[in-house]
Amino acid sequence: LAEGAMLLRGFAAERGAALLAAIEGIAVAAPFRRMITPGGFEMSVAMTNSGTAGWVTDRKGYRYARHDPDSGKPWPSLPAEFLELAEAAATEAGFPGFVPDACLVNRYEPGARLSLHQDRDEADYGHPIVSVSLGLPATFQFGGLKRSDPVKKVALRHGDVVVWGGAARLFHHGVLTLRDGEHPLTGHRRFNLTMRKAL
Ligand code: SIN
Ligand code: FE2
Repeated sequence: LAEGAMLLRGFAAERGAALLAAIEGIAVAAPFRRMITPGGFEMSVAMTNSGTAGWVTDRKGYRYARHDPDSGKPWPSLPAEFLELAEAAATEAGFPGFVPDACLVNRYEPGARLSLHQDRDEADYGHPIVSVSLGLPATFQFGGLKRSDPVKKVALRHGDVVVWGGAARLFHHGVLTLRDGEHPLTGHRRFNLTMRKAL
């Protein structure tokens, strides 16, 4: 996609069902919710987290929190299959030794979208981002350092993994409005796992 950014087609496809089962387990302990942006808008993507820290947003801002603000409890721990996949995908993309401590789990229903943004709430940009797509396909936008830089559009399908780090670590990215469809494992939904070293 760019120097430091790689699309690994189907890299997680054969682990899809196991990853979705793990997501179900996370959602029992920490249900999906639509968070509020600092500007006061409810996000169209529903989110939860697993790991030592979870990404949250509310009127006070974007940040990582060690506890689920809805329950006051720590986030569910990172499943072993998430850690293994993140390490393997990062290695394949040229970032060996990646050990995430946070996984944001995004759930898209038809009509949901994620506008162009940078992942910049992490403590150290020396670590890559590993992003795993499951269920319905979506159009991913990948731009540059500036929000106004030209964007590439790529279809992300079930099992695709995108890794970005190095020179691309702070590149803007987003997801266009999800179109309705039916996936054998997720029905009318798309899930995305975004693994980071947050703390
Ligand atoms: C994100 O940037 O957090 C999610 C990207 C995606 O859903 O593919
Ligand atoms: Fe992101």
